Order: sequence, then structure tokens, then C-alpha cells
Amino acid sequence: MTQYFDTHAHYDSGKFNADRSDVLRAVHESGVALIVDPGDCAATSERAVAIAQAYDFVYAAVGWHPEEAAGWTDDSLAQIRALASQPKVCAIGEIGLDYYWDTSTKATQETMLRTQLELALELDLPVIIHDREAHGDSLRIVCDYPGLRGVFHCFSGSVEMARELLRRGWYLGFDGPITYKNAVKALDVIAACPADRMLLETDSPYLAPVPNRGKRNDSRNLPYIAARIAEIKGMTTDQVAEVTLKNGKQLFGI
Ligand code: NI
Repeated sequence: MTQYFDTHAHYDSGKFNADRSDVLRAVHESGVALIVDPGDCAATSERAVAIAQAYDFVYAAVGWHPEEAAGWTDDSLAQIRALASQPKVCAIGEIGLDYYWDTSTKATQETMLRTQLELALELDLPVIIHDREAHGDSLRIVCDYPGLRGVFHCFSGSVEMARELLRRGWYLGFDGPITYKNAVKALDVIAACPADRMLLETDSPYLAPVPNRGKRNDSRNLPYIAARIAEIKGMTTDQVAEVTLKNGKQLFGI
């Protein structure tokens, strides 16, 4: 059976409270060999760590997301640092900049991001970057940390930005939106991205791909994303699954 790695799925979300163990079992049985569950604040990062400790095929990332900036205090960095030392924590994330929701100032978001990038360097962990409508600032900030490695989750920047990140060793994550009719830029990015730098992500429970768009997402939808990439790259879906599994293991040290 083809094996997949979903490098970005929020099984800590309350949207899975009613059936989390059933969904995770079904996902694993469907061929999803590995999952990374990133938190977005201390509470969700703690839940992600607990899930990773309960399921051998789930790993956790811990971090503070820009949308949760209102909850960030002087203690937050210490909380994330403590969580990062737990077993099966493989990255700092989901962290980044979000200029779409506009729930906090750009300066606050930049401070939170830099603080956590420095933590990742200190702990020698990769990062999972959320960049929504903040491409210029995201690129500028990560470029200030040459030793940093990681993935731009659900990459939505230009081909030029992709090339700049790839040149610096970054991975690009692709999600359900690449299957949507309005996806244009992402298709050019996929064409330009070497297969050995791509990761498959669902961002479950959000961003379900066609034909399940609008429904609660889970990792069983990864093959739709892989199939779209395969089509663009002239590969088979199995080849996409295989190379992205290898890429994910390499980046996250699994
Ligand atoms: Ni996410």
C-alpha cells in the first residue's frame, strides 16, 4: 500500500473531539504512515504533544501562531521551550505572520516570530512557517537566520519567492487549495519546485481538497493533493507519496 506523510494536520482541534481516535485509526489504516500535528498556542501545543504520545505515528510541533497573538505573554516563550523538550516534538510551529486576519500589529507578530525562530535555532529544530498575505516580511525575516531550516506551510507566494527559499534549503508545503479551480500561481510553483523539496499537508480540519472541499478535512484526503502534484510534475501519485514521505522524515528527523 502507498504510504503518505501528512506533515501538517491539527488533530488537536476541537472539531475532532467527538471521534478523534476513530478518525486517527482510519487515517492510519488508509496508508498515512506519519503525521505532524502543529499547535498554535500553549494549550493546543500541549494537546498536540499528548496526541503524539498516544499514537506512535503522530509527531508534534509546538509554537504560537500569529492569530493567537492576543494570548502571547512574557511567559509564553518559556511554555513553548518546556513543551519542545517533550518526547516526539519534532519542530517549532505553527509560527509566522498573518496579515489577513489583522488581529494584532505587524510589530507584535514579528517579535513573536523572531523569538520562536531563535528558539528553534537554539534547540536545533526545524520550523513550520505560516505566511498569509505577508510574503515580503516572511521572506525578509527568515533570511535573517541563515542556519534555520523548515517548511513554508501551504505555500502561497510567487515562483520568485519559492526559488529564493529553495536556494536557502527550505521545503514548500502543498495543501488542498492546489486542487481548487482558482489555483494558478501554486501550479507554477509546483512546476518550479524540485520533488525533493515538496511536502504534502492537509491542514486538517481545514482546507479539504476537491472533491471534498467544504467538508471537515482529514489525512485520508492526501491522495487528492498528491494526484494534482503528480499531474503537474509528470510523476505517478505513488512517486509523489514516496518522495514526500522521505522529505518529511528528513526535515523532521523521523
Ligand atoms: Ni495549520
